[in-house]
Amino acid sequence: MKLLIIGSGAREHAMAWKLAQSRRVSSIFCAPGNAGTAALGTNLPIAATDVAAIADAARRHRIDLVVVGPEGPLAAGLVDVLQAQGVPVFGPTRAAAALEWSKAFAKEIMVRYGIPCARGERFTDFRLACAYVDTFSVAPVIKADGLAQGKGVTVPESRAEAMAALEAAMVRGVFGEAGRTVVIEERLEGVEASVFAFCDGERALTTIPACDYKRALDGDLGPNTGGIGSYSPPEFLDEAMVRGIGETVMTPAVRAMAREGKPLKGVLYAGVMVHQGKATVLEFNCRLGDPETQVILLRMRSDLLDVLLAVAMGDVSQTTIEWDGGASVGVVLASGGYPGSYKTGYVISGLDEAGKVLDEAGGVVFHGGTKRAGGETVTDGGRVLTVSARGATMAEARERAYAGVGRIAFKDMQYRKDIGLRAAGR
Ligand code: AMP
Ligand code: GLY
Repeated sequence: MKLLIIGSGAREHAMAWKLAQSRRVSSIFCAPGNAGTAALGTNLPIAATDVAAIADAARRHRIDLVVVGPEGPLAAGLVDVLQAQGVPVFGPTRAAAALEWSKAFAKEIMVRYGIPCARGERFTDFRLACAYVDTFSVAPVIKADGLAQGKGVTVPESRAEAMAALEAAMVRGVFGEAGRTVVIEERLEGVEASVFAFCDGERALTTIPACDYKRALDGDLGPNTGGIGSYSPPEFLDEAMVRGIGETVMTPAVRAMAREGKPLKGVLYAGVMVHQGKATVLEFNCRLGDPETQVILLRMRSDLLDVLLAVAMGDVSQTTIEWDGGASVGVVLASGGYPGSYKTGYVISGLDEAGKVLDEAGGVVFHGGTKRAGGETVTDGGRVLTVSARGATMAEARERAYAGVGRIAFKDMQYRKDIGLRAAGR
């Protein structure tokens, strides 16, 4: 089979790496891809949201399955266009992906179908929104309704900060249309996890949990990023709790979407807050997480293609997924200055050596913001690489991942030293 993977991050490289191991895969295309995906197949110079060009490329290269990585193309209706043209695709339609691109819609679904979530409401009127903030004893969380490049959520420390966030989104329009509507919700305490299930429109197949690190610096300090490290499984979720999340969150959400006439085919990703053994949904996404994918695919023993095809065909009832019982850790190597401004084009050294060290331990260097230039691999984004490794324990996975990190260098490289540390128990 010929596959076309949409996206250019380390998540997409990880998907390409895993799919390349399938006996049934003959070639992999990536649009637009990076230096890592180029080594596994062919990169096409097409933007991930250029729906018409992707549909055209899928026909021209006789692609058997298109696999969509990021949320942008889903919200842009890529899946709808491909389906209309008879191209098999893994990912939800624009209508189903509203679970991710509209926080107001997601909240409505959770409330209507009894899925555990924070108390909250949607607002389009600034004054009513301000009045609602005053009904909370602790300043509530303010969320732009639409996609805002991961920057649309404010967790304020005071009423004044909450009001400022509302004013920025609703009056000044700092997020454009995405922030004219907001969701205001109760601030929850606890520890966060990302849980993933493959959904065929009616059923949710297994629930696999991971944790990601959002803050740029060790000890959860510094600015918020798109995700700077990850590990799986989370130490605070046992098997029964993960199963419980499947039963109280994942399956009800898939059934709800089917009942709403917007069947969800693809990945359901719930960001949950866990407190005193109970999981509450913070948000839904309709895709795999980055950098969570770089650790969960290391733990997947089954053929990913079988799973994606079952989803695309609309029946996962005969599919099972086997997971490695150990642990995995992913350390993101970022450009100096990220998530603020940074320079690119720096030569990356030590990739082969790191690859060798990791290979012995079932690990991989996944490329994110990289490209080939002048016969070298150079930096081309904020999150440059994810160095991922497996181990029998979290401590072992950590040691191996950081051994790989130690071989790699580029100018102004920055990374956290504490990924997986709390789960390793030391
Ligand atoms: P989201 O994009 O909805 O996941 O929000 C981004 C981050 O904001 C989450 O990862 C949480 O750390 C935080 N957050 C979102 N909603 C809440 C909430 N209700 N209570 C506390 N923190 C939240
Ligand atoms: N890891 C966060 C995300 O993929 O949205």
